[in-house]
Amino acid sequence: MPTAFITGATAGIGAAFARRLASDGFDLVLLARNGERLDASARDLSDRYGVRAETVVADLATDTGIEAAEKRVRDGVDLLVNNAGFGNNGTFLDVPVNAETTMLKVHCEAVLRLTHAALPGMLERGRGGVVNVSSVAAFATRGTYGASKAWVVSFSRGVAHDIAAKGRPNVRVMALCPGFVRTEFHERAGMDVQGIPEFLWLPQDKVVDTALRDLRRGADISVPGAQYKAIVALSRMVPQGLAGRLSSRAGRRYD
Ligand SMILES: NC(=O)c1ccc[n+]([C@@H]2O[C@H](COP(=O)([O-])OP(=O)(O)OC[C@H]3O[C@@H](n4cnc5c(N)ncnc54)[C@H](OP(=O)(O)O)[C@@H]3O)[C@@H](O)[C@H]2O)c1
Repeated sequence: MPTAFITGATAGIGAAFARRLASDGFDLVLLARNGERLDASARDLSDRYGVRAETVVADLATDTGIEAAEKRVRDGVDLLVNNAGFGNNGTFLDVPVNAETTMLKVHCEAVLRLTHAALPGMLERGRGGVVNVSSVAAFATRGTYGASKAWVVSFSRGVAHDIAAKGRPNVRVMALCPGFVRTEFHERAGMDVQGIPEFLWLPQDKVVDTALRDLRRGADISVPGAQYKAIVALSRMVPQGLAGRLSSRAGRRYD
């Protein structure tokens, strides 16, 4: 059976990936910091879908956490989903600098190092996939969060092109750019999302379904939902200064 390694697998989008991939017959390696919650998720998924579910308790904001994840990824995975992430409570001016550098460690360094650990085995076997969870914020102006997610898009596209240049079409790297999804993310970040209109919320399963479909067809970026495809297309046509002013404010209220 193929194996999928999912970071941030106990909640939200990562948990939705875990459910869907288990139902597709993948064995799972689930990573998060909370070991009790990880064990409960692994037990539940293997009971429900009859797959093997291992756990890695690791904090991807630390070198030891990233090293533990790299070690398991190098042992061989067929699909890597770099999903773990978080938002800080406030704009750049309000947040302690170490919270911002921690975000870069989880959103950028961990993604880079786990992708680097996964690809040699995938290239050797001639197949495999890496989904790096970014955000539509990658196309907007949203402080360190948006900048880190823009890095994920640029990095993933660059690596996808490097692989294509080697003539390995069955090894794929893709950035997934969801809009608003109801998860624990906003509460953890202390974000007030009450004003976000209903049409902007994407169901978790739709995000995962679109991502896996786009990965299969060899896309290097996946933007789930017609509304977000339109917003991203529009943001490229509006003058940069105006797009920056609008996107740095919209939906960005903190408790
Ligand atoms: N929700 C949205 O609207 C939205 C939109 C666009 C993009 N995204 C992106 O989607 C990804 C998943 O977010 P989500 O909304 O599903 O969030 P979530 O519900 O808060 O889940 C986050 C998951 O990541 C784990 N995690 C957080 N920090 C970690 C760390 N330092 N090391 C290891 N695991 C860590 C959490 O478990 P532990 O706390 O136990 O570690 C949890 O399993 C993130 O990259 C986020 O930026 C979310």
